Amino acid sequence: MENGKVKIGVLTSGGDAPGMNAAIRAVVRTGINKDCKVIGIHKGYIGLINGDITELKSKDVSDIMNRGGTILHTARCPEMMTEEGISRAAAIYNILGLDGLIVIGGDGSFRGCKALSERGVNAIGIPGTIDLDISCTEYTIGFDTAVNTGLDAIRKLRDTSSSHERCSVVEMMGRDAGYIAMWCAMTGGAEEVLIPESKGVITSDMVIEQILMNRSKGKRHNLVVVAEGVGGTVKLAKKIQDITGIQTRATVLGHLQRGGVPTAVDCMHASMMGYLAVKAILDGEKNKIVAFNRGRYELIDINTALSMTKKIDSEYYDVVKLLSI
Ligand code: F6P
Repeated sequence: MENGKVKIGVLTSGGDAPGMNAAIRAVVRTGINKDCKVIGIHKGYIGLINGDITELKSKDVSDIMNRGGTILHTARCPEMMTEEGISRAAAIYNILGLDGLIVIGGDGSFRGCKALSERGVNAIGIPGTIDLDISCTEYTIGFDTAVNTGLDAIRKLRDTSSSHERCSVVEMMGRDAGYIAMWCAMTGGAEEVLIPESKGVITSDMVIEQILMNRSKGKRHNLVVVAEGVGGTVKLAKKIQDITGIQTRATVLGHLQRGGVPTAVDCMHASMMGYLAVKAILDGEKNKIVAFNRGRYELIDINTALSMTKKIDSEYYDVVKLLSI
C-alpha cells in the first residue's frame, strides 16, 4: 500500500470483447470512489512484464462505455507460458506496489492469474470473451454483443437467401467453443449447426440430407451455421450446391464479430463485475474469479474455477432442428 492508498492494476488480455471498456470504467470509477489508485496496464500481460503502465483517472474512462474493443489494448502473451515471464510479471507487480491485479480476459488469461497467484500476486479475474467458454461462469463479457452481431448478419442474409431461394452457410467465431454458433443458429432459425463440440458427429452428408428433407417439406431457402473451429465453410457450401443443385453461398463473419457497440446486457454485467472485482480486493479476497451463475454474481477461487468444466446442453441442438421446419 502506497501513502495509505490501495493500489489496483487492471489489464485486458487475450481476444478483445465488446464490454471490456465498460468493465475498465467500472474498475476505475469504483476504485477512485473508494480512494484507491488505479493503474492501467497496456497490452495485457506483456505490458505488466515491460512495466508499460499509466495511472487512470476518472476522466480517462469518460465516454468509453459504448466503445467496443479495449482502451488498454490487448494481446496474447506467450511470455506468460514461461517461468521467466511469470516471475518477471510478479516482480513488476511488487515493484509497482500493487495490492491487486484485475485481469479482464478468457480462460488462458486466467491461467496467467493462477500462475501469478502462486508467486504472491493477488489476481482477480473478470470473464471477458465473446466465446462464453469459461467454465466457472454462465456469462462472459462480449458474448451477448457477438451473438447479436451474428444474428443481425443472419437476418440480412435471410433476406437475400429467401429472395433467391438459396442456401446460406454462415461461419461464426469460436475456435474451441460453439456457444456463439449455437445461439445464432437457434435465434436465427437455422436448420443445422456445426460446432467444435460435435465435430465429426454431424457430417456434411447429414447436413445435406436435412436440407433436402426440409426442401421436400416446402422450405424454399436454407440456413446452416458453422463455428470457426469446425471450419471448411466454403467447401461445405460448394458440396451442398454440387450435390443438391441448390445455389449455396458461404459467408464468414470473422473478426467483424469481435467489434461493435456493446449491448446493454454486456454493459450491465461488465459494470457489475468491474465493481465487484474492486470490492473483492478491498474486502481482502484473494485470487478469485468474478462469476455470474443462476442469476447471481459470486466469487470463485481461481483454482476451483480452472478445474471446472461445462458443455453446451445437447438439447439446444435438438431444439434448433425441431424448430427449423
Ligand atoms: O477467443 C475469442 C476469439 O475471437 C475466438 O472466437 C477466435 O477463435 C479467436 O479469438 C481468434 O483469435 P485471434 O484474434 O487471435 O485471431
